[in-house]
Amino acid sequence: MTTGHNVHPLPQTDQLRAMHTIIRDRDCAREDFVFYSRRIIRLLLEHGMDLLPFTKKEVTTPVGTTYHGLEFAAELCGVSVIRAGEAMEGELRDLLPGVRIGKILIQRDKQTKQPHLYYRHLPADIAERHVLLLEPMLATAGSALAAVDVLLEAGVREDRIIMVNFLSSPEGLRRVATERPRVRIVTSAIEDRMNENAFMVPGIGDFGDRFFGTT
Ligand code: PRP
Repeated sequence: MTTGHNVHPLPQTDQLRAMHTIIRDRDCAREDFVFYSRRIIRLLLEHGMDLLPFTKKEVTTPVGTTYHGLEFAAELCGVSVIRAGEAMEGELRDLLPGVRIGKILIQRDKQTKQPHLYYRHLPADIAERHVLLLEPMLATAGSALAAVDVLLEAGVREDRIIMVNFLSSPEGLRRVATERPRVRIVTSAIEDRMNENAFMVPGIGDFGDRFFGTT
């Protein structure tokens, strides 16, 4: 698939494909699933943070010369889409100790696949912040777009939302690009398609169930 300017896939290195090969195997042990998923989540969060704004900063090195560098110039927070998005919180906390994390509870109806919003609790100053929206699976994009709507209602600027996806369907990416073109998406894999049950193919199964051990 040709991706739009709003999609930022991780470089498809052999190492990344090897990690995907481990966790996509239906016989993958749960501890391996968690371990390698978390390694990929770390890469995704780093990639997402590359998209944030930086300003110039100079420091004096131990050699006594000037290094013309950069410093992070944004207020940031995470917002996880419960439940699967919570799988990304540990890595975010490792990268940014003390980071504020909001929660949005959205569950897809098992039959209709339509998302239902049950709960939200966001940092009070979220309208001033850039947001890493932690949503591992983008299938129909219904859940992700419902979460984006919650952020927009709370005053977050659309161009300050970076969605952190693990797997994305071409259909879901197109829908986000059409409906929320300024939202940027970081993903570790773009799948071939969705099947009739709105699962991605080749896919990984239910990420939340596999990560939290509720299969
Ligand atoms: C899954 C997944 C996403 C959503 C993706 O959540 O975690 O939130 O479906 O599908 P969509 O793009 O078609 O909306 P689910 O409701 O199954 O709950 P979970 O987080 O507990 O796995």
